[in-house]
Amino acid sequence: MTFEETAAPGLSAETRTALERAVASGHRHEGLLSDRAFHIKQSAVRDVFDISTRPGLVSLAGGSPSLRSLPLRELGETARSIVADHGLEALQYGAGQGMAELRRQACEVMAAEGIFGADPADVVITTGSQSAQDVAAKVFCNPGDTVLCEDPTYVGALNAFEAYEVNLAPVPTDSGGLIPEALEAKIAALRKQGRAVKLLYTIPSFNNPSGVTLAAGRRQRIVDICAAANILVLEDNPYGMLRFDGRPLAPLRAGNPHDVLYLGSFSKIFAPGVRVGWALVPRHLHRRFYLACEAVVLCPSPLTQMLVSAYLRDYDWMQHIRNSRVLYAARCAALLSALAEHLPDGVSWTIPDGGFFLWLTLPEGVDTYPLLYEAIEAGVVFIPGAAFSPSDEPSNKLRLAFSAVPEDDIREGVRRLAPVLRRALAAAAG
Ligand SMILES: Cc1ncc(COP(=O)(O)O)c(C=O)c1O
Repeated sequence: MTFEETAAPGLSAETRTALERAVASGHRHEGLLSDRAFHIKQSAVRDVFDISTRPGLVSLAGGSPSLRSLPLRELGETARSIVADHGLEALQYGAGQGMAELRRQACEVMAAEGIFGADPADVVITTGSQSAQDVAAKVFCNPGDTVLCEDPTYVGALNAFEAYEVNLAPVPTDSGGLIPEALEAKIAALRKQGRAVKLLYTIPSFNNPSGVTLAAGRRQRIVDICAAANILVLEDNPYGMLRFDGRPLAPLRAGNPHDVLYLGSFSKIFAPGVRVGWALVPRHLHRRFYLACEAVVLCPSPLTQMLVSAYLRDYDWMQHIRNSRVLYAARCAALLSALAEHLPDGVSWTIPDGGFFLWLTLPEGVDTYPLLYEAIEAGVVFIPGAAFSPSDEPSNKLRLAFSAVPEDDIREGVRRLAPVLRRALAAAAG
């Protein structure tokens, strides 16, 4: 079927576009899709995630936590008793805002990181931090609005915001994270273009993908710049507790209850499979936020909320975090020393103080996307840098994740990656 065969004369522009899409895809239902659906891209991370389960490959791609040190047998017993003894609650619909006990416990977790005095009434339990990003985009952004973000930033957030036809504006970062002067300049430039800038989406601690942390001395300045411009800060902090030295930096939310909407997650400090996170929402926005959450999920899963709540009540969750820090620090150190040993001159990388990732920079002009296929041939996987930017430009960066890979495998992965990068550098040098 061609477009001319399908199209009748005198069609409206909208119908014409819908039909063009239908023709392009070959199925008439394509013409029924919303404009929004065409903004939801297939994530490179997702593609690579599927490849990385192939036997024999070393995956430095996925940002998964290591779950091996969780007490799985005991947790199984806890889950059994939640269903057997409390099934009428666990298997029933629950409150849209989440369970009161878990909201109180989320405040304890935040206090361990430096957010004191949070009120459980301001907490909304979410289906992971990912769904909270979607809700934030829905509640604050009209199509064409602008959201500021770090350059680079989390691919899942790019996907969530782009689905709402939001214009993402990356702000330059350096080894201390977002550069306050660059943020000010970006806001001024966007305002001059008449743009409505709604949010700053930021991952201040151990950014995904760069591993970089916003310096303590810049934190208040970033909030102040946004507050002065009436831009809400959306602080996404799933890794903050995983600082290797055990002394997390106070989140932006700590001293700024009115200007920061804070997102927490149990995915990295407990288990992503429970799909439980939370939002600590400025009181004046709380109702709007949780009504939008309810519209998506009715209520977060009572079953997994009860499992997380029992975990926080009956297990030494702080000790698990301490153990995780030691494990991730050792894996990061193994990665750093293997990179120093095997990678050619001309490649540089960030040195994270925590979290799951580090970020490699190759010389200008090298595109890391095609290198992925060579790396897979060589038995190692990474995520090309282009995935972490709203532009579709080629990128000379790539992300390596050390969190879920034993040290020996990390070293082997870097040994396999090194010749791929060496060849790319030689080709770029001509
Ligand atoms: C920065 C960031 N935010 C949010 C998420 C998603 O977290 P959750 O599992 O809580 O949805 C991730 C997962 O990798 C992440 O890196």
